[in-house]
Amino acid sequence: MAQPERTQPIYTPQGGPPRVDRPSGEILETVGEEGVFRILSNTYKRIGESPIRAMFADDLEAASRRSAAFFVQVMGGAPLYTENYGPPRMRMRHFPFEIDAAARTVWLQCFRGSLQEDVEHHGFPSEHLASFETFLEEFSKWMVNVEPKA
Ligand code: HEM
Repeated sequence: MAQPERTQPIYTPQGGPPRVDRPSGEILETVGEEGVFRILSNTYKRIGESPIRAMFADDLEAASRRSAAFFVQVMGGAPLYTENYGPPRMRMRHFPFEIDAAARTVWLQCFRGSLQEDVEHHGFPSEHLASFETFLEEFSKWMVNVEPKA
């Protein structure tokens, strides 16, 4: 993956690691593994059209599959991420990318858009939407690794 060297030091958010419930296993039971892969595929399509596209590898579909494996695992499904890519260590895996508050906002918008689309057209259980979004909001704070501007 072609990615520039970091130009800014790694910043650690003050809140520390996320203390948030994992998304409910009922979501996985409802949409199935293929549903999780669909949601991430659609999220990454949105990322592909967004201002943070350049952070990601050329092959967005392959990148979406790595993320989908993680979300299947997080919802109590098969340990697809660990089996294929090793321990999650998500914050560390994001260190090569300079993620500031603005990038986080764009990332969240892309994910929210694909979740909304899934509720409307593909059967994502709407009663679990709010808690899934809370998980993303909290977890994504911990992925930020560029100091906020004063
Ligand atoms: C805060 C905003 C975020 C940004 C800007 C961001 C950005 C990125 C980037 C640039 C990659 C590399 C993709 C590639 O292979 O080209 C990545 C990978 C990944 N991200 Fe994020 N991310 C964010 C938040 C999150 C959150 C909150 C999670 C999980 C809850 C997450 C899970 C993952 C996973 C599972 C991967 C795949 C790692 C791998 O390659 O094995 N990300 N992310």
